[in-house]
Amino acid sequence: MKRASLIERCRAELERGAPRHVGLQLVCTLLHGEVPRYDWVGFYIAIPEEQLLVLGPYEGAPTDHLRIPYGRGICGQAAERLETFVVGDVGAQDNYLACSIHVKSEIVVPVFRDGAFVAEIDIDSHTPHAFSAEDTAFLTELATLCSPFVPAIPGDNDGHSPAER
Ligand code: SME
Repeated sequence: MKRASLIERCRAELERGAPRHVGLQLVCTLLHGEVPRYDWVGFYIAIPEEQLLVLGPYEGAPTDHLRIPYGRGICGQAAERLETFVVGDVGAQDNYLACSIHVKSEIVVPVFRDGAFVAEIDIDSHTPHAFSAEDTAFLTELATLCSPFVPAIPGDNDGHSPAER
C-alpha cells in the first residue's frame, strides 16, 4: 500500500473514536499488516519526570523492554536527543537493546505534542537497511497524526477519544 494511502487509513482508524490507546493499537496493527518490512511496530510513552520510556501499544513479538531509561538503546538515545534515529545495521551498534536475533534494522521517531516530547514510534525490521528517507518522512507525518492520541499516563484507558475532551 502506498504511504499516502496508509496515512489516510491510519487517520481513519484514529478518527473512529476509540479510546486513545486503542487508536494507537489500530495504527500498529495496520502498519504491521500492510508494510512487509515493518516486523515490529510499537509506541513507547514518555514519562519525562522519570526520564523513562514505557511500552505502549504494539504489534509483533512480545519484548522484554517494557521500560527503557532515557539514554539506553536506540529508543533511549532518541528520547535524549529528541531526534529520529535510523539504524541500518543494529549489530554495529554499541548502545542497542536487542529484542530478537531476527531484528536487523530499526527506526525510532519522536512524537511531540505542543512542542513537548510525549512518545516514540519504534519499528524493527528483519531486513537490514529497511528504512529509507521515504519511511522517515512517512513516520514523521504519522507521529504528528498520532500525537493527540498518546495517553497522558501509559496504559491510560480512560474510555475517551481526544475529540471528546
Ligand atoms: N531495540 C530498541 C529496544 C526496543 S525494541 O526494539 C522493541 C532499542 O535499542 O532501544
